[in-house]
Amino acid sequence: MKNVLGIIGSTRKMGNSELAVKMIGRHIPEPHSLSLLRISDLDVKLCLGCYRCIEKGCCVQDDDMEIFLDALAKADGVILAVPVYFFGPICTVKMIVDRLCMMYPRFEKFIGKPCLIITLLGVKGKDGYTSAALGSAAMTMGLDIVGEANLLAGGKGEILAGEENHKKTIELGRMLFSPKKEIIPDGKRCNICGSQAFKFIEDGVECLVCQNQGKLISEDGRVTLIIEKVATSEVNTLNDRNHHLGFLMEKQGDYHINREKIKKMRREFVNDGTWIKGR
Ligand SMILES: Cc1cc2nc3c(=O)[nH]c(=O)nc-3n(C[C@H](O)[C@H](O)[C@H](O)COP(=O)(O)O)c2cc1C
Repeated sequence: MKNVLGIIGSTRKMGNSELAVKMIGRHIPEPHSLSLLRISDLDVKLCLGCYRCIEKGCCVQDDDMEIFLDALAKADGVILAVPVYFFGPICTVKMIVDRLCMMYPRFEKFIGKPCLIITLLGVKGKDGYTSAALGSAAMTMGLDIVGEANLLAGGKGEILAGEENHKKTIELGRMLFSPKKEIIPDGKRCNICGSQAFKFIEDGVECLVCQNQGKLISEDGRVTLIIEKVATSEVNTLNDRNHHLGFLMEKQGDYHINREKIKKMRREFVNDGTWIKGR
C-alpha cells in the first residue's frame, strides 16, 4: 500500500488545489492511502537565517515544520498543488521551502520520491514563473518530478466543471508511480528537468531550476535550446545536497572566525535611519 501525500498550497477549503489532489488520487491505479496537508493549516514560522539547523541539526523555531517533514518522509509519492497568485505561486510554498535547510542532516529520508506538480490558474497563459518556482521547490524537497500540469480554474471548485481538467487528472494519476517518462527535447524547455525558465549567461543560458547550462541555437529563423548536464546543480541528488551542506558549513566557519570584527563594524550602522515599526 502506497502512501500518497497531497500538499495543498491554497488557503481555500475545497478549492481547486484541494480538488485537484483528490481528483488525481482517484486515478492512481496502485493501492494507496491519500494523506493531505494544507500548508496554511500549519504554523510555519519564518527562517531566521541562524544556521542552527545545519550546525546543531535542529531548528530554533517551535512550530509545525516537523509535522510537514514527518509527512514528507513517510510519503511514497507526492502531489504538490498550488494556485497562481500574481504570476507566481502563493507564498505558502516559499514559507516551507525557506525552512528546508532543516532537511539537510537527514536528507536521505526524502530523496527521490516521485512527485506531480500541479499549477492552478485562473487565466490561460497568466501563470508567469509559477511552474519554475514549483519545480525548484519540489527539487529542494528532494522530489523527483514525474509529471506536471497547468489546470485552468478560477472560481472555487470550478476545476470540476471543465472536461479538460478531468482528462488531465486521469493521466496524472497514472503517472505518479509509473516509470518516469524521458523528457523529449523540443527546444523550448530544459531537456534535463523540463523547466521553461532560463537566464542568459556569458556563453549561453542556464536553467533556473536545475542550474544546468546550454546554448540557444538559431536555425532558419527558429531559436531552439539545448541544455547539457554539468556538475553545478545543488538541488537534486544526495551528493549535491551534501556538497551544499559542506559549503554552508564552511561559510559558517569563516563567519565565526570574523564574527567579532564584523560585530564591531555592524555597531557603527545601528542608529542609521528611523524605524517606522519595530527595529
Ligand atoms: C490574489 C489572487 C491572485 C491571483 N493571481 C492570478 C494570476 O496571476 N494568474 C492566474 O492565472 N490566476 C490568478 N489567480 C486565480 C487563481 O490562481 C485561481 O483561482 C486558482 O484556481 C485558485 O486555486 P484554489 O481554488 O486552490 O485557491 C489569482 C487569485 C487570487 C485570489
